[in-house]
Amino acid sequence: MNFLSERMNRVGPSMIMDLLKTAAGGGFTSFASGLPDPAMFPAADLATAADRELSSSPAGALQYGAAEGYAPLREWIAEHLKTRGLKATVDHILVTNGSQQALDLAARLLIDAGDLVAVETPTYLAALQTFDSYEARYLPFSRAGTDPDETSLAQALGQSAKSIYLLPTHQNPSGLTWSEGARDAAAALIAKSRCTLIEDDAYFDLRYDGEPQIPVSARLDGAIYTGTFSKTIAPGLRVGYLCASPDLVAKLSCLKQITDLTTGSLTQRIVHRFVTDFDYSAHIASVCDTYRRRRDTMLRALKQSMPAGVSWTHPLGGMFLWLTLPEGQDADALLKEAMQHKIIFVPGQSFHPDGGGTNALRLNFVSEPSHRITAGIELLASLIRDQIGRESHTAGELGA
Ligand SMILES: Cc1ncc(COP(=O)(O)O)c(C=O)c1O
Repeated sequence: MNFLSERMNRVGPSMIMDLLKTAAGGGFTSFASGLPDPAMFPAADLATAADRELSSSPAGALQYGAAEGYAPLREWIAEHLKTRGLKATVDHILVTNGSQQALDLAARLLIDAGDLVAVETPTYLAALQTFDSYEARYLPFSRAGTDPDETSLAQALGQSAKSIYLLPTHQNPSGLTWSEGARDAAAALIAKSRCTLIEDDAYFDLRYDGEPQIPVSARLDGAIYTGTFSKTIAPGLRVGYLCASPDLVAKLSCLKQITDLTTGSLTQRIVHRFVTDFDYSAHIASVCDTYRRRRDTMLRALKQSMPAGVSWTHPLGGMFLWLTLPEGQDADALLKEAMQHKIIFVPGQSFHPDGGGTNALRLNFVSEPSHRITAGIELLASLIRDQIGRESHTAGELGA
């Protein structure tokens, strides 16, 4: 199709979407999705919030709104972000159509074809797809334990990275959270490098243990920080936001107008009503209670059933953990086998721009109820055991 733009050579269907379509066929235990549990959606309160908005301000709720977003919601977000240590006023906030749009706008603002973007490996697949669509090239940096490897990060930044994309809290896909020290070190390196930080904090509020960590963006000037109500309220509302300096917000707002004029007025007002008229903190606490239990169920099942040589992360929050098979094992082959047994997950390679992660997989621990998590992990463990057994048998035969 030679009439398509160059960038389309780098844009393709998402493996996760394909897997979700398969799972929608029914009967699957899905550890693949990034979907919150719909039982956690505060549907009745959202209906009340919608009703209040439509009765009290029908024109405002149904009319086009300002490109920057509904001012009372922007003010609320700015106050909320101050509790995370960010210096935010209403002028720092742009409401977006989900935080995915915030990432897209940030990428469009910063990336020309061929520009270098530093990214942790593994990292959020849909961010890579966004950067791909602007024809970015990558400077991947690796991890040492739960923190980034400082030498690898410094090397990536030293190679003329124009931007850096970070997800230091409850990362998708690994579930890992950087320490305070690692955040300080990264902020210092980024400040020296003069590249622009895009920090994705989609999972900040889904914290199950310990104290929240201050974002890297709070430690330096000029960052673009993104957040969302998708994980705590409901993704179908499509309300996210970014926080950046007012001059960047003005530019990003121009890009947003080109894309979609504005985020839906009604959904922004529903979110604003919900966070102000209802007890948002109590709602988050109840979501966290349920997800913490499911995380613990998955961790317990993994500990009880996984064979030696398999390791996994212990997330402090978020929705995912990262499982690593022994070297040489193939997560794609495991997925094919698992699908025969109606289990799906996402193989690790999709989260690596550099072809790594072939022996790793991302497991979502929030979407399935506890009994299905336990049964699914036990089955997965037996498939992994079989795969390892087959491989070592083959290796033995080859060596004989
Ligand atoms: C790390 C991360 N960032 C951003 C998003 C985008 O979410 P939304 O557009 O619903 O805010 C997701 C969704 O799964 C995510 O996992």
